This record gives sequence, structure tokens and C-alpha cells, in this order.
Amino acid sequence: MHFISTAVLLSLPLSSLAVHQTRSFGQQHRRAAHKARDTTTSNSTYVLEDLYQGQSFFNSSLWTFFDDTDPTAGLVNYQSSADAQSKGLAYVQDDGTTVLKVDNTTSLTSGQYRDSVRIGSVKSYNGGLFIASFYAMPWGCATWPAFWTVGPNWPDQGEIDIIEGVNLNTHNQLTLHSGSGSACTIESSFSSLISANSTIGNLQCASSDTSNTGCTYIDNDPRSYGQGFNAQGGGVYAMDWNSDAIKMWFFPRSDIPSDIINKTPNPSSWGNPAALFSNTGCDISSHFSEHTITINTDVCGGWTESSFSGSGCSGTCADTVADPSNFDNAQWQIEYVAVYQS
Ligand SMILES: *[C@@H]1O[C@H](CO)[C@@H](O)[C@H](O)[C@H]1NC(C)=O
Ligand SMILES: *[C@@H]1O[C@H](CO)[C@@H](O)[C@H](O)[C@H]1NC(C)=O
Ligand SMILES: *[C@@H]1O[C@H](CO)[C@@H](O)[C@H](O)[C@H]1NC(C)=O
Ligand SMILES: *[C@@H]1O[C@H](CO)[C@@H](O)[C@H](O)[C@H]1NC(C)=O
Repeated sequence: MHFISTAVLLSLPLSSLAVHQTRSFGQQHRRAAHKARDTTTSNSTYVLEDLYQGQSFFNSSLWTFFDDTDPTAGLVNYQSSADAQSKGLAYVQDDGTTVLKVDNTTSLTSGQYRDSVRIGSVKSYNGGLFIASFYAMPWGCATWPAFWTVGPNWPDQGEIDIIEGVNLNTHNQLTLHSGSGSACTIESSFSSLISANSTIGNLQCASSDTSNTGCTYIDNDPRSYGQGFNAQGGGVYAMDWNSDAIKMWFFPRSDIPSDIINKTPNPSSWGNPAALFSNTGCDISSHFSEHTITINTDVCGGWTESSFSGSGCSGTCADTVADPSNFDNAQWQIEYVAVYQS
């Protein structure tokens, strides 16, 4: 998420404070899925560690509902676990998919805040392969959805934005935010090492009081975000994070590699990533640590408002929030979130 005020964020009781006491629950959720691994068809060294999926998705030992003031100044009331579930904004469907949505039934007056959901994993990670399958993601004027990971001491422990955009965007933005300290950048030479649909945006990852843009790639494939993502059944995002590099891939629903479907993922077989960050330009280990997985949909707020008309919306963001029908497409439909370790 962009435009996070460090001062505000640091003052918040971040969900990750609970991580260390409860880390063992993640261990209990470890699955023995690698028993089924077919070593003749995959050279993957990754083993499934945590699988967030199905009727136990909202087990309170797995996710924290962030219900404090939005650090990015949205017109949003993030809901507690109990409220989100009683208001029908967070639920698991009979088919085992998980829905996280913005309220699309309440009429408001301009300037009032709309209910939405932001969840963060209880467990935190210092690397791994993160793979998430979504059948749908939120889109529409006044929405700012994101699937990301973030460390407790922002920006010094870093932020990795895997899916992010605003309003009627037709492209995904993939971003790192880092602290100052040693340099952390995208090198322009990486343009030959990424997917043909990706372009480099900003090179500088460090977020400061004057620039919170982060270092960015744009995936220009219209299937990577919003309406175009949903129209073909969504797809899979993968983020491979180790001390050498952070790489991210997008696979539309019809193009998901079989090793991902079989849960024996081998990133080296996937071709050029949509986003590449390497330790030649950034000391990954010193800038990124103790990340929790986060999924949210903000309503208005920094980036949404600064590019409101630029991303195809008319009127004001606050007026748009007032009409619930503007949020009929503002929902995540999650098949699973998986974390693998080597
Ligand atoms: C696995 O490794 C072998 C030997 O290096 C190679 O021939 C094969 O193509 C690899 N398989 C995959 C799925 O990468
Ligand atoms: C929630 O997770 C805990 C720890 O893994 C487990 O003991 C408990 O049975 C789970 N509860 C439900 C409702 O799935
Ligand atoms: C780039 O996007 C176009 C439009 O969706 C798609 O047809 C093409 O396969 C994509 N190319 C790559 C390398 O992903
Ligand atoms: C809210 O959005 C959902 C999902 O798009 C839709 O099925 C439902 O009809 C909407 N509710 C109202 C009151 O329009």
C-alpha cells in the first residue's frame, strides 16, 4: 500500500505483535502434502508448510482482523473478526472458497466510512514461496485492494506488494517498500529478465516521508488485475522470496503451471517473472523480515483519491462511497493461500 505514514503506522497495535506467542499454531497446520510429491516430474525443493483454505480459513489462530484506523487515510471501517462475520463480509462458501468483501448493502451520506475487511496472518515469515489462487478480486471506483506481506517495523522490515491497484485500473502493480539503510533498487538492466508484459516503474525501493512510491513493476496484461482478472476466472500469484532475490509471477486461470496445481512448485520452470528484485541491487535479507501475509480492500484513501479521475472514475471518491451499488464487484474470492519452504 502506498502513502503509508510511518508515524501513524508505528503507533498502531499491529497484528504481528501476536506472532511470537502463537507461532506454534502455524506448525500445527503444516500438512503432509509432500507425501504425494512426484519427484520424477518436479525438481522442486519446496515443501508445503502452511495452507490457508476451506472451512477452517478463519480459525482465529490463523488470521488477525485489523480493525484500527486505516493508516492510508481511507474512508473505511475495517471490521473485527466477529463483526466482519456477522455482517457477512468474511465467510467461507459451501464450495470451500473464502470471500472477503466490502459492504455493498448500506447507503451512506458522502464522507461517511464504508465497512470493509483487512486480515493479516498470525504467523510471520522470513522468506519462502507464497502462492495464492483467487477466482475474483475487488475492482471498481473507490476501491484499493491489495495482497501483500509486511514486517512489523514499517518501512525498515519492508513491504512486498504482490497484487495492488486502484479504481478501474487494468494492470497490476508489483512493489517493494524498504527502509533507508543500504541501497535497495531495481536495476534498469532487469528489463530483459522480466515477462514481456512487464515494465519497470520507479527504481528506488526506500520509502521516506517525501516518497512512498517504492520500487515498482507494472504488469500490462489486462488479465492481471480487476475486471480483466475476474472475467477469465482469476488466477494465481506467486512470490518467491529468499536472500538472493524476490520474484513474482502472475498466471491467468487457463495458464497455471501443473506443478503449482499439484502443489510441487518449481519456480525455475516458470519463465521470466512479472517482477524481479535481486540482491545485486538490494540486500534482501537486511531489508525484509518477519512478514505477515495481508489481504485487504481499502475504500478511497491516498492512492485511490490521487488517481481517481486518472483511472477512469468521475465525481468524487467520497460521493462514490455513499452508494453501495458501487461495491458490487468489491470482493476477494480466495481458493487458497499456500506457503512453501525449502
Ligand atoms: C529436473 O531435472 C532434470 C535433470 O537436471 C531435468 O532434465 C528436468 O527437465 C528437470 N525437470 C523439471 C520439471 O524442471
Ligand atoms: C483452529 O486451529 C487450532 C490450532 O491448529 C485447532 O486446534 C482447532 O481445532 C482449529 N479450530 C477449528 C474450528 O478449525
Ligand atoms: C501478455 O498479455 C497478453 C494479453 O493478455 C497475452 O495474450 C500474452 O500471452 C501475455 N504474454 C505473456 C508473456 O505473459
Ligand atoms: C452485493 O454484491 C454481491 C456480489 O457481487 C451481489 O451478489 C449482491 O447482489 C450485491 N448486493 C446488493 C444488495 O446489490
